[in-house]
Amino acid sequence: MILFEKVADLQQYLSEYYTSDATIGFVPTMGALHEGHLSLVQQAVERNDISVCSIFVNPTQFDDKADLERYPRTLAEDMDLLRSVGNRLIFSPTVEEMYPPGLDTASGVDFGDMATHMEGAHRSGHFEGVAQVVKRLVDIVQPDHMYMGQKDYQQQALMRHMMRELDYKTEVVTCPIIREADGLAMSSRNRHLTPEERENAGQINKVLARLKENAKTLSLTEVHAQALRELENIPGATPDYLEIVDALTLKRLNNFEDAESVVACTTVRIGKVRLLDNMILR
Ligand code: PAJ
Repeated sequence: MILFEKVADLQQYLSEYYTSDATIGFVPTMGALHEGHLSLVQQAVERNDISVCSIFVNPTQFDDKADLERYPRTLAEDMDLLRSVGNRLIFSPTVEEMYPPGLDTASGVDFGDMATHMEGAHRSGHFEGVAQVVKRLVDIVQPDHMYMGQKDYQQQALMRHMMRELDYKTEVVTCPIIREADGLAMSSRNRHLTPEERENAGQINKVLARLKENAKTLSLTEVHAQALRELENIPGATPDYLEIVDALTLKRLNNFEDAESVVACTTVRIGKVRLLDNMILR
């Protein structure tokens, strides 16, 4: 396994892949890896000639300094986990290496309404930061396939849009949500929950599962109101939002008939932790 910290070193290593038909798979992460991340890496390893996993806690996507400082940094453990799934190349740059003074790294992509609701409404500047770092990483790695989690539904939809807008060859592959036994979506932030909060957090996914079931017989407006009430009733929980949207454009929907595929997205705060989850309804 090789750990690269410099852009030039990684690119020199990859240069033979750029000029051949070999495919490069890429998984961008912020580290503190768990089985959710590893499921993405496994696909990248299995489906490409070479796979790169980046580990970079990107300061430009945090609107809350305390959240950035609290973010777990566990490079040694991460490397062991990546080795265990056969990932050979790791890119873990410094902030200066990613954002050298004088280099304009803003993505320049206009996401319009796709980025202003849901996570965009609750974390100011977040998606500009995500777009900036992902564009910079894709420019460096030049992957054929980039693997992202359905867990961050809006993020993967925006990055798919960005690749199209920039006319990049990189295909975004969205991988299913890996969950704990009680249904809680795995997240690096789950470790900040107290045992009691952790137990209550398992309810979020159950509410979404009921929403999906109820949507077979009730209107979207009815299931939305009911599920929002259920989220509010989870002890210690405050939902930031629950939205039922077109799975491709992320436009809010009132009727099932208005989109081909439909997804329900929520973020619920329990204690200090924001927990994201979503469920594809159709
Ligand atoms: P991070 O939170 O580390 O997540 C890296 C990738 O793992 C994302 O695509 C995310 O959706 C996926 N992931 C996280 N938990 C998952 C789970 N339980 N099941 C499946 N996939 C899961 O998302 C980011 O980092 C950053 O915003 C990044 C894209 C790296 C840009 O900085």
